[in-house]
Amino acid sequence: MLAEMGLRVWAPLPTLAASGPAVGVGAEPPTSPEAIAAPRPASVRTQHVAQGPAPARAPSPPPVPPNPTVERPSGLEHMDWAALQTAVSQCTACKLCTGRTQTVFGAGSVLAHWLVVGEAPGEQEDRQGEPFVGKSGQLLDNMLRAIQRTRGDTFSDGRRAEAAHQVYIANAVKCRPPANRNPEPTELVQCEPYLVRQIELLRPRIILAMGRFAVQSLLRSTEPIGRLRGRVHHYQGVPLVVTYHPAYLLRNPQDKAKAWDDLRLALRVVQGASA
Ligand code: URA
Ligand code: SF4
Repeated sequence: MLAEMGLRVWAPLPTLAASGPAVGVGAEPPTSPEAIAAPRPASVRTQHVAQGPAPARAPSPPPVPPNPTVERPSGLEHMDWAALQTAVSQCTACKLCTGRTQTVFGAGSVLAHWLVVGEAPGEQEDRQGEPFVGKSGQLLDNMLRAIQRTRGDTFSDGRRAEAAHQVYIANAVKCRPPANRNPEPTELVQCEPYLVRQIELLRPRIILAMGRFAVQSLLRSTEPIGRLRGRVHHYQGVPLVVTYHPAYLLRNPQDKAKAWDDLRLALRVVQGASA
């Protein structure tokens, strides 16, 4: 049943094509349950590599007002990607720094139109220094593949992905909480300025907030995902769609169909905006 669910829900549906052609790529091969076990291409390990001259981006959103309870690390608003990544790697602003092997900054092209925000690194992410490399990451990759999006710079069949098809992935919290416990509100607040700066630098066309901690950081809402999904929110002028976290979907496969609806909503929003 679970495998059937995965196949049915994540295979690209005819409605995807009907909702507007994907720019510059043909149809992705259908996702299969076997793909869940397939290793991701090496290209996904590339972090923050600028790809040629930057195309015209959407105008900068107004700066995010700092959360009043936290002091922004000094100079953050002037940091480029490299400086920001260094600042995160040296951060000791909350107690999560004591248990980490390394910080997990984010991954993907800095030109990506899509931003996925997750929760916090798990054991594998902490070990490898990359977001979403465990089981949740495999599901996330399949979800992205189903909407012809990728965190790498090529699709799994080797075709080059344009910025419109690329996804940058970041977490609300950059250090692994011990024993994979939930991030605490103070940790989310302490780490938030880094995510804010990542969004300022990336200027995504669409944000997919996965799970309640991403939502807590970005929308400052503690409402359940079920009440926030299904409509378009905005974060500093950027459309934001809320959906379930892949780890939740692994435990509750019956909700994959709703997540699939959320992905299609995000796709419609971003395609409508660029039409
Ligand atoms: N879950 C997340 O939210 N982020 C990761 O990087 C891994 C699992
Ligand atoms: Fe700093 Fe964020 Fe790590 Fe806390 S979780 S130590 S705020 S980088």
